[in-house]
Amino acid sequence: MKKIANGVWKLSFGQPEAHTPVSLRKNELQAGALEKLNCAGTAPFAENQIEIKATSRGVYIEIPLGAEEHIYGFGLQLHRVDHTGRKKVIRVNSDPVADTGDSHAPVPFYVSTAGYGVFVDTARYATFYCGTNTRKGASAGKKDEQKEIGTSEIELYGYQAAEGDRTVVVDIPAAEGIDVYFFEGPNMLNAVQRYNLFSGGGVLPPMWGLGMWYRAYSAAKKEDVTRLADQFRADQMPVDVFGFEPGWQTKAYSCSFVWDDGRFPDHEAMLEELYSKNYRVNLWEHLFIHPSSPMYDALLPHSGDYEVWEGLVPDLAVKEGKEIFANHHLTEFVEKGIAGFKLDECDSSDFVHSNWSFPDISKFPSGMDGEQMHNQIGTLYQEAIQAPFEAIGRRTLSQVRASGALASSFPFVLYSDLYDHKVFIRGVVNCGFSGLLWSPEVRQAQSPEDLIRRIQTAVFSPMALLNCWRIPNPPWMQVDRDKNIKGEFLDNYEEVRAICRSLFETRMALIPYLYTSYAKYSIDGLPPFRALVMDYPDDPNTFGIDDAYMMGESLLVAPLVAGETGRSVYLPAGRWHCYWTNEMYEGGTAYQITADLTRIPVFVKDGTLLPLAAPLQNVADDAVFDIALKSYGTGLLTTVLYEDDGTSFSYRQGEYNWVQLELDNELKITRSGNYSGRRYHIG
Ligand code: GAL
Repeated sequence: MKKIANGVWKLSFGQPEAHTPVSLRKNELQAGALEKLNCAGTAPFAENQIEIKATSRGVYIEIPLGAEEHIYGFGLQLHRVDHTGRKKVIRVNSDPVADTGDSHAPVPFYVSTAGYGVFVDTARYATFYCGTNTRKGASAGKKDEQKEIGTSEIELYGYQAAEGDRTVVVDIPAAEGIDVYFFEGPNMLNAVQRYNLFSGGGVLPPMWGLGMWYRAYSAAKKEDVTRLADQFRADQMPVDVFGFEPGWQTKAYSCSFVWDDGRFPDHEAMLEELYSKNYRVNLWEHLFIHPSSPMYDALLPHSGDYEVWEGLVPDLAVKEGKEIFANHHLTEFVEKGIAGFKLDECDSSDFVHSNWSFPDISKFPSGMDGEQMHNQIGTLYQEAIQAPFEAIGRRTLSQVRASGALASSFPFVLYSDLYDHKVFIRGVVNCGFSGLLWSPEVRQAQSPEDLIRRIQTAVFSPMALLNCWRIPNPPWMQVDRDKNIKGEFLDNYEEVRAICRSLFETRMALIPYLYTSYAKYSIDGLPPFRALVMDYPDDPNTFGIDDAYMMGESLLVAPLVAGETGRSVYLPAGRWHCYWTNEMYEGGTAYQITADLTRIPVFVKDGTLLPLAAPLQNVADDAVFDIALKSYGTGLLTTVLYEDDGTSFSYRQGEYNWVQLELDNELKITRSGNYSGRRYHIG
């Protein structure tokens, strides 16, 4: 086992494949930041505890799993948080309907409550058996054990989990060798931080990316866009990002990457108008290239051997392919002010409703096959789209539907066509284990209650997104889908809209706190959204919690869904305060919490001085936030704010400040750092 950085260890076997997440990775290992994280300096396992061998299928790995350990991760798992005793296949899938491992962003990485992480560097559809099986002979002593005859499916076919000291078995098809990386703790959160820093550090979004997002109707025309954009401002509904869905292009499935002059005559004038109203514009696309696209001929030799939706599949792992694709984005869009993109359909395979993607046996010019490309296409795509923003020196926050290993530094947030609200909440809980961000987007709603509960979750999530691609008007005006389509209004829409507005304002108030949480992600690898078990790994009550999460270091969020007026919320040891009323709760136990439609249950850690901004309508480049401090607890209360220009990469050269705030009898503000501007006015 070789030490490759402070707390990061590598075990190699045989000849690893040419194309793996690490070999394809262009982002930098944050060795300096890893030095800052304390650890014992001993690998989590001795080499002789790990079994690795070649099999007729590929490579086999077996790693110990202690009787008391629980393991988490494997990417954006939407159906389960604690994977102990489960089998997980690392296979990208656009429609991950069951707890199989299939995911928009599967990652061959897990972390343990025992305080370490394991990353298997493969792009294959690897299978992890997480303490599921016992070896031949282990049950020999049970020959006289009496068992009832099972009379239900669950008794017969319930999950099979091994007891006692178990192992994690990994089956990697096709490979002849493998590198396995081990990340030290001492605790789970530290192991995740190390994985994120190994991946290049967490992303720091532009400040505007933390505001409200609205994606308009797919078939919208120029006049619809103008009407919506004017209406948000007139109605004082804060919106930062205006998203165009497929209709902006001449061809969308596959894509031309050319504006449609029919729906959008003089689109440049329309964009100027949107920019003048301080909207950031985001364009929907996917990477399958239509024959009419200006990129088609140039990309033909740099594409895979099968089409998708009659379009080319460019190989973004080859330099030429990536450059042609990235340059078109640079000159046609990014240099013309486009602030970001929604990278759709790159999760490709769909095993449930249809099979619309390229086959696993496809061949790509880089030498990758279809299986490897499926699992890597999301991160290759993100890297290609990040390039023009790096070139122009402007940050983006964008969307992507597929991601994977080592992705924490990419400025992209995941989303899905699934829509169960509880599944969406679980996504927020789970994304932080594997260096990912997730948006529990709001589309149409079944009722005003459903709409408002969903918006509450979105507002307390990595990206506050309304994805109204199916509906011509905002859902707070026309709640029910049928009515949307017919264009009728609900009687009480004024009231619904007022509640939505106040939730949007809650999001805008939290931007400085959230931005600071993202800065800690960028610098220290600390996930801005994370499961309670990451902060409280010694408390078994947190092990299975999949419906509440930490937002930054001080807020515990426990969303409600339609039909609920209350829920049980487990508060870990220590004191907590209701975000809204300041009511105090002694932690270490669960409480039955009720909340009317205007409130989502949120709890603040005792001792927090929460910085809340006067809500802006949008975050302009030169926005200054008026900060009021809210006290949760007594005695010395503290907080810190991260400050920089909010849009460029100059923070990488150290142009940022930490603003330390302490309130005892009086407020003490200490600024340290090299950024000369001021983003916060603290009153
Ligand atoms: C879906 C995507 C939706 C929307 C739609 C447009 O696949 O997930 O959010 O963009 O495409 O056709």
